[in-house]
Amino acid sequence: MLTAVFVARPDMGLLIAVTVIALALGAHLVASIGGGDMPVVVSMLNSYSGWAAAASGFLLANNLLIVTGALVGSSGAYLSYIMCKAMNRSFISVIAGGFGTPAAASDDGEQGEHREISAEETAELLRDATSVIITPGYGMAVAQAQYPVAELARKLRERGVEVRFGIHPVAGRLPGHMNVLLAEANVPYDIVLEMDEINDDFAATSVVLVIGANDTVNPAATDNPASPIAGMPVLHVWEAADVVVFKRSMAAGYAGVQNPLFFRDNSQMLFGDAKQRVEDILRALDSLDAPIPEMAGSSR
Ligand code: TAP
Repeated sequence: MLTAVFVARPDMGLLIAVTVIALALGAHLVASIGGGDMPVVVSMLNSYSGWAAAASGFLLANNLLIVTGALVGSSGAYLSYIMCKAMNRSFISVIAGGFGTPAAASDDGEQGEHREISAEETAELLRDATSVIITPGYGMAVAQAQYPVAELARKLRERGVEVRFGIHPVAGRLPGHMNVLLAEANVPYDIVLEMDEINDDFAATSVVLVIGANDTVNPAATDNPASPIAGMPVLHVWEAADVVVFKRSMAAGYAGVQNPLFFRDNSQMLFGDAKQRVEDILRALDSLDAPIPEMAGSSR
């Protein structure tokens, strides 16, 4: 309204008033957005800047500004939409600062008994496996475990085990976070698969290694309509014969909801920093490979 008045009758006081109101509105809009929605909002703000540039292009009759602005605007909006869809969040409620979104009920208590496994036992499981799927998450990025994970994949492949990676679209904290880390560690692209490409294969898999992932492998998203993450597409890791979950504690993931996967009969927890635990497994695999020293005097 004030902008329309300013366009009709330009005035410095009006310009200052519009600027102050716009600043307050922008700060208010962003302050109410939770950490998880941040990347969506950053991408959305990027999109807004594109549309603003396109509008300036129309005002200045500059075709280049119109084209580049529209490109930035539409790509940012599309990226935000994809991120919202993968997190099962409403696009409109995220860009409106979370207004109209009911507060999620806290559901981070224990849901039964969990079993623990050691790195040596995990190495034995992997030695006997025919197929392994690794599903990395934010914890792999925190631990910087991508290099030992890549080494583990290489070692298992050398032994003839089929190894693939299952990547959830919002695993980690940025779009493509896991793909970048795995590429950095030289994991071949052809064994890194998207969630939709690999989700039907878990049932025929011997061992799944969940390395620092939580919400993206939470069966409550499909089983429990009351869960705050209900409806979010997830990796069906629980369908595999054995699941080993690498994390430091029983704490909930980003969404703050407990994960029933940890209490399933085929799941075992490998506690500790993901990098250290994967390195322990590598050492255990080497010692399983090492020839057993002959008993003193047995060859004589
Ligand atoms: P999360 O649900 O965030 O869980 C990560 C897990 O890693 C935690 O449970 C944590 O457990 C464990 N962890 C942390 N540091 C570790 C370490 N050093 N060693 C071993 N484990 C460690 O991860 P996710 O499955 O990747 O899901 C991503 C979440 O972020 C989703 O909820 C998604 O919606 C949200 N999100 C994603 C994006 C994008 S674009 N990717 C953007 C915004 C929000 P401990 O503390 O017990 O170790």
